Amino acid sequence: MRKPIIAGNWKMNKTASEAKAFAEAVKNNIPSNTQVDSVIGSPALFLQELMASSKGTELKIAAQNCYSENAGAFTGETSPAALADLGVQYVIIGHSERREYFHESDADINKKAHAIFANGMTPIFCCGETLETYEAGQTAEWIENQITAGLVGLSNEQVASMVIAYEPIWAIGTGKSADATIADEICGVVRNTVAKLYGKEVSDRVRIQYGGSVKPENIAEYMAKENVDGALVGGASLEPASFLALLEGVK
Ligand code: G3H
Repeated sequence: MRKPIIAGNWKMNKTASEAKAFAEAVKNNIPSNTQVDSVIGSPALFLQELMASSKGTELKIAAQNCYSENAGAFTGETSPAALADLGVQYVIIGHSERREYFHESDADINKKAHAIFANGMTPIFCCGETLETYEAGQTAEWIENQITAGLVGLSNEQVASMVIAYEPIWAIGTGKSADATIADEICGVVRNTVAKLYGKEVSDRVRIQYGGSVKPENIAEYMAKENVDGALVGGASLEPASFLALLEGVK
């Protein structure tokens, strides 16, 4: 039985005071982590504040990115060792916005996955196709390639413990979500790819999220699907009431 995981991805939104106010508003209403893992992915600037505000509560905190080295001459980058030292538990990697706007390759993302595990944290590894790829009927092949390249060299135990988020790029922030049947089908492609590479025991354990215009009104449809273990949510994670409603939709 895989525990559901709902992760908000705030992207480049909020100020420190807004982040703190959010944590204060939600922290005592997060469902027990025996029911669902509830995660907020914040800009690096607010992680320390969020760690302090959420201490002793069921809210978990994710970074939205990190570098693949722990220290050195890498101006402007975020050290995974420093994130782990703060108590951050998850790091989102390979988001389509990072792949597209910051030219991150599968190899870059793979190095980050290794660095995150080496520091005792869990990657939320994103994959997903463009509308063009989807319409050409090449989604399955695209996803298989991203997963194969992105997970190179990880151990079975690491892959089993990670989170993979399937996010069709055409559904991100567009209000045009992939319907739950399509989401389930492609999350199934993710699971089968993991099974081919790492075996069925690993693919039965890995948690797979759908992401793309998920909101309180549609979360239950996704969560009812066999291959969907949670959601990676952008816009609908920004307001406390909406984030809590997403969590309610899973319970
Ligand atoms: O990481 C989250 C996704 O990019 C989805 O964003 O829920 O605003 O469509 P969205």
